[in-house]
Amino acid sequence: MTKVIQTIEEWKTLRNSPALNSKSLGFVPTMGALHAGHTKLVEQSRSENDLTLVSIFINPTQFNEPRDYKEYPRVFDQDLEALTHDDVDFVFAPSFEELYPDCYRFQVSETFLSRDLCGSHRPGHFTGMLTVVLKLLLLAKANRAYFGEKDYQQYLLVRGLADAFFLESTIVPVSTVRDADGLALSSRNTRLTRRERERAPLFSRLLSSSAPPKEIKRELEQAGFSVDYIEDRCGRRFGAVRLGSVRLIDNVAL
Ligand code: PAF
Repeated sequence: MTKVIQTIEEWKTLRNSPALNSKSLGFVPTMGALHAGHTKLVEQSRSENDLTLVSIFINPTQFNEPRDYKEYPRVFDQDLEALTHDDVDFVFAPSFEELYPDCYRFQVSETFLSRDLCGSHRPGHFTGMLTVVLKLLLLAKANRAYFGEKDYQQYLLVRGLADAFFLESTIVPVSTVRDADGLALSSRNTRLTRRERERAPLFSRLLSSSAPPKEIKRELEQAGFSVDYIEDRCGRRFGAVRLGSVRLIDNVAL
């Protein structure tokens, strides 16, 4: 039976109860609009821990574009049904007021990797993300926390955050789940029009080709994508593009 928790008080009481203290806990932070990529995170958590906690919180501080925040899919009932079906033990769905009693007066900023790639195109995004992830990790007190490799820069930053602040949770990367045509699953994919969805797989196809970044950028632009970046870093090729109002990111190991 999946238990929904909305307040920090309730979660803390539960977390400190003997029933939870003696068990291992896996944590999957999400912003809802769950898809098969999230299911994989949940499955891995369930296979490696006694209990699994999933958070659903659309974190406003990590959206640098008001339109993106406004249009982000909000399907809580559907998400809860999926998590109940997947036998998740706890769903934490706090309000902004619960999670930000400081009204975002305190922020976690990283000064190196967060300025690169998505950081240089989405000002403030990684500060908002790191701030909410620190809050969630401190509350969850999980043995392991699971992050998808589609957001590889996010994963690297969260791993660095856990090291820098001596957090107890092990940060576990989980490989990207793709549709049959190669498009990386993302909650934002549902906002693509039918024609944009048909064009979208070219992005992952070119990213995993042997063409150099400049050439990939040129081909994507010719095909009507607006390209934020295609760059090689840390043994991976990273890309971010826009199709209409939807921003897609992906990365592959080189
Ligand atoms: O990857 C996401 O969905 C979000 O960035 C996260 C980690 C849940 C923080 O809001």
